Amino acid sequence: MSGGLPLRPELVGRTPYGAPQLEVPVRLNVNENPYPPAPALVADIAAAVGRAATSLHRYPDRDAVGLRTALAAYLGHGLDAAQVWAANGSNEVMVQLLQAFGGPGRTVMTYVPSYSMYPDYAALTGTTLVRVERDADFGIDPSAAAGHDVVVLARPNNPTGTGLPLEVVEAVCEAATGMVFVDEAYQEFSAHTSALALLARFPRLVVTRTMSKAFAFAGGRVGYLAASAEVVDALQLVRLPYHLSAPTQAAATAALGHARETLGSVAQVVADRDVLAKSLAAQGFPVVPSDANFLLVGGLTDPAATFAALLARGVLVRDVGIPDHLRVTVGTTDECAQLLDAWTAVTHEPVAGRST
Ligand SMILES: Cc1ncc(COP(=O)(O)O)c(C=O)c1O
Repeated sequence: MSGGLPLRPELVGRTPYGAPQLEVPVRLNVNENPYPPAPALVADIAAAVGRAATSLHRYPDRDAVGLRTALAAYLGHGLDAAQVWAANGSNEVMVQLLQAFGGPGRTVMTYVPSYSMYPDYAALTGTTLVRVERDADFGIDPSAAAGHDVVVLARPNNPTGTGLPLEVVEAVCEAATGMVFVDEAYQEFSAHTSALALLARFPRLVVTRTMSKAFAFAGGRVGYLAASAEVVDALQLVRLPYHLSAPTQAAATAALGHARETLGSVAQVVADRDVLAKSLAAQGFPVVPSDANFLLVGGLTDPAATFAALLARGVLVRDVGIPDHLRVTVGTTDECAQLLDAWTAVTHEPVAGRST
C-alpha cells in the first residue's frame, strides 16, 4: 500500500517516467529531431486537423485505416494496412503488444542496458522481466533469445546508440521460441537494413517504429508497427476503442505526405553526430559508436555534476544512470556547437571534470 491507497503491489515503490521538461535554450535529452516542421507541413496539418474538427461530434475511425495505409506505403516492403497498426506513440504500441503476448506468468527478455521504459511496460502488463547483459561493446548474444515468451530488442539501442547488423536480428529470430519485438524507433538514422526485411520469414517478428524521432512528430504522438496480419488482428483484442483521436490521425497522415522533406534533416543530424563524436573523443571522452541520433559519452568522474554544470549553462542532456556516462541528443548544427563549448568549459572545472 502507498499513502493508504491499495495500490497494486508491483507498482509500489516505482517512480513515474520523468525526463525533465525544462525550458532551457539547448534541449538535448529526449532524442527528438531538432528541426521543426516546415511551414508547408504546418499548413497541411492545420488544414487536415481543421477538416477533422468538422466531425468531432463523431468517434474517429476506430481502425485508423487511412493512417495505416499511409504508414504501410511509407514503410514499403510490400506491406499493406492489414499488416500495420498505429497507436499513441510506440510506448502504447509496445504496451498493447505485451497485453496481447505477455502478461502474468509470462516472460519478456531484453538485453540491458536498454530503453528505460521496458521495465515499466513489463510491470504495467504484469509480465516478468528478464534482463540479459550486453557484452562490453553493447553487442548481444542471439542464443539468449531462446526460452522466453517475448524478446524486446531495441535496434539501434537506447541509451547506447548501438546498431546491429541484420544477420544478428535474424539469429535472434531463429533462436527465439516466442515473439520477437524489434524496436526500431531510430531506424531512419541507422546504417543497417531494417528488420522489416525479415517479416515475411518470421511470423512471430514484430517491428515497431515511431514518428517521434526522425519524423519530427514527437508532439503528435504516433507510433506504429509492422507484423503479420494475425498479429494486428490479435491487437484488436486489447486496444481500447477509438484510442487514436481524429486530429491525431489527420495530422499524422498529413505529416506522412511530407516524409521526403522531413527526412531530409536526417543526413544533417547524422553528419553532425559524427563531427560531435569526433570532437568529444579528441578531448579524451570515449564515445560509444552510434547508429542513432544521440551519443553515449563516457570518461566522466561525476556524471550528475557534469549534468548540473551543463544545465547551469542552458544545455539539458540525460543522465541515464550508467556510471561515468551521459547521453546527449544530436541537436541542430548550432546546438551541437553550443553543447561542445559548454562541455569543454564544464569538464575543465574541478567538480564536473573528467575521470582519470
Ligand atoms: C528505443 C525507444 N523506443 C521507443 C521510444 C518511445 O517513443 P514514442 O512513444 O514517442 O513513440 C523511445 C523514446 O525515447 C525509444 O528511445
